[in-house]
Amino acid sequence: MSSAATSAICITARVPAKVNLELMVGPLRADGFHHLATVFQGVGLYDDVSVEQADDWGVTVFSPQADQVPSDDTNLAMRAARLLASEAGIDIPVHITIDKDIPVAGGMAGGSADAAAALVACDALWGLGYSKAALEDLGAELGSDVPFALTGGTAMGSGRGDRLAPVLGRGHYHWVFALSDVGLSTPEVYAECDRLRSERRVPEPAPSASMMTALRSGDAAALGRALSNDLQPAALSLQPRLEEVLRTGMEYGALGGIVSGSGPTVAFLVSDTEHGLDLAVALTASGVAPVVKRAVGPVAGAHVLIGPAGRRSS
Ligand code: C5P
Repeated sequence: MSSAATSAICITARVPAKVNLELMVGPLRADGFHHLATVFQGVGLYDDVSVEQADDWGVTVFSPQADQVPSDDTNLAMRAARLLASEAGIDIPVHITIDKDIPVAGGMAGGSADAAAALVACDALWGLGYSKAALEDLGAELGSDVPFALTGGTAMGSGRGDRLAPVLGRGHYHWVFALSDVGLSTPEVYAECDRLRSERRVPEPAPSASMMTALRSGDAAALGRALSNDLQPAALSLQPRLEEVLRTGMEYGALGGIVSGSGPTVAFLVSDTEHGLDLAVALTASGVAPVVKRAVGPVAGAHVLIGPAGRRSS
């Protein structure tokens, strides 16, 4: 932990990345957001966020992409900790340490995940006992994906993605993620989506029956066919080489392939661990993806991994 820290009590919260199995984007709203109908799934790529009392507020990030993560007051985990402190009337700074495995600016909600984990960790550090619903309300003030990062599993998102309803689903799904070495800015991808659709009327988004049927049956092949993302044309327009990544993954037998959220990470659904290993090797050997990660979903949302009395769960 950081040398700025002065207290022995350190709480670590673990939080997963997300992939949008379906992302329907409605028209641009007056507040600058878009109405969404989306299905989120938490997947087992994790950030660990540790908090401990310190003399000053601060953030340390461990990641090969650490230079792309702010370590000042704009860091979303820091904003989350400060928001909870002001809400609860706490006036004690914390130092936050983030161990990142979730790609930065990758369309997998890494920043939102860190905010969710910071809320959970600070709630435990300060012994606040906030309900999940109360943390979700605070999380929604920080970013549209923060409530889902707190919840995890598989869930339907409406509003700007922050209003959640559970999805009845079964089974576990194996994913292969092709990372990109250049990130995409979420606002820029939404703006490109608006530009590409400026000539046509955009309907209000609604979830598809095929997605719900696939999830209810636990049929990975049907889920692969049902994957869809309205932001994908915009992400491909901004990073055309993602087309080749998608094509290569499908050629090597993925059940489905999709840009994850606003990209540029590309998510491939595969049938099992072995299929995932084969596809990961194919994507790296063909040179289309510099880094590939594998994960299983759905997994639980942000939770305390190491509390005051030691390790709790994984
Ligand atoms: O909520 P969050 O801070 O993650 O959103 C980042 C940006 O993504 C917003 O400022 C907006 O440009 C875009 N966005 C959107 N509609 C949504 C969610 C995000 O236009 N439902």
